[in-house]
Amino acid sequence: MRILSGIKPSGKLHIGNYFGMMRPALELAQRGEAFYFIADYHALTKVSDPKELRENSLDIALDFLACGLDPSKTAFYRQSDVPQVTELTSILLNLTPVPMLENAHAYKDAIAQGHKPNAGLFTYPVLMAADILIVQGDRVPVGKDQKQHIEIARDIAGAFNRQFGEVFVIPEAVIRPEVATLPGVDGRKMSKSYNNTLEIFGDEKAIRKKVMSIVTDSQPVEAPKVDLDKNIPLQMYKLVATPDKAAELQAKLAAGGHGYGEVKKELVAVLTDYFAPFRKKREELVKNLDYVHDVLRQGAERANAVADETMTKVRQAVGLR
Ligand code: TRP
Repeated sequence: MRILSGIKPSGKLHIGNYFGMMRPALELAQRGEAFYFIADYHALTKVSDPKELRENSLDIALDFLACGLDPSKTAFYRQSDVPQVTELTSILLNLTPVPMLENAHAYKDAIAQGHKPNAGLFTYPVLMAADILIVQGDRVPVGKDQKQHIEIARDIAGAFNRQFGEVFVIPEAVIRPEVATLPGVDGRKMSKSYNNTLEIFGDEKAIRKKVMSIVTDSQPVEAPKVDLDKNIPLQMYKLVATPDKAAELQAKLAAGGHGYGEVKKELVAVLTDYFAPFRKKREELVKNLDYVHDVLRQGAERANAVADETMTKVRQAVGLR
C-alpha cells in the first residue's frame, strides 16, 4: 500500500491539527510505504510573503519530525523539491474539464470569501492530482474538506488512462473521522482564524493563560456537574490523559465539589506531560537544522526517483517522447 498526503504549511501547530490530522497520518504511515510532503506550491495560493512561506515550511517539517515521523520509513519532502509535479500538472490540465474545476467547493468558498479568482487557485485541484499520481499513491489520508479534490484526481487519472493507456493507479481517499469538531477555548471549532487554539510548541505561560480562559458553563463549584459531554476542558482532557485519569476526573465533576478552575489546572498538567517529549525533540531539532534539511533532501531523492519513473511513462504515453 502506498500512502501519500500533502500538508499545507500554515502556521503554528495546535492540538486540533495534532489530533485531527497529524496523529492519524503518522499512524497510517506505519501500515505501508508513505510519502508525506510539505505542500509549498499549494501554499502560494494563500501566502505571498516569502519569509512567511519559508518559516512555515520549516516549522511543519520540525513539527512532524518532533511528533514522531520516522524518516527512515516515510519519504518526507518539500513539494517544490519534486518540480516534476508541475510538468505533470501541465499535461493533466488537458484532461481536466473547466466545469469540474468551477464546481469545486473549495474554489467557490475561497472566491466567496473574497479571494481573487486567479488561475493558481482555480487549478489547485490539478496540481493536487499531479502530487498524488506522480508517486502512484493508492491511499490518500485527508480531512473531509478534501474529499472532492480526491474525486477530481480520480476523474483525471481515469480520463488519462482511457485516452493514453493504463499509466496511473486510481487513488482512494482515506477520510478521517471528524475530530475537527474539537472545540477551541471559546467553544467554536478550534481554528487558527478564530484565535482560539491551544498551540503545542508555544510559550508555556501563554498556553496556561489560554487554558484558564476556556469558556465553561456557570454551574457552581459544589454542584454535581451535568452536561459533561459539552464540557470543553473535560473534552480536551480526555484527548491527552490516560483513560483511567479521564474517567476519574469525569466522576469527580459528576460528584460535585470539583470546580472548573481545578479542572483547567489539571488540564495544563496533562497537556504539558503529553507533549513534553515532543517539545524536547523539537528543541533538539532546532539546534540541528542540518539534520532536518538532510531528511528533506533524502525524502526528495526518494520521491524524485518515483516521479521520474512515472514521468517517463507519461511522456511516452502522450507522445512527448
Ligand atoms: N489540499 C490539501 C489541503 O489543503 C493539501 C494537499 C496538497 C494534499 N496536495 C495534496 C493532500 C495531495 C493530499 C494529497 O489539506
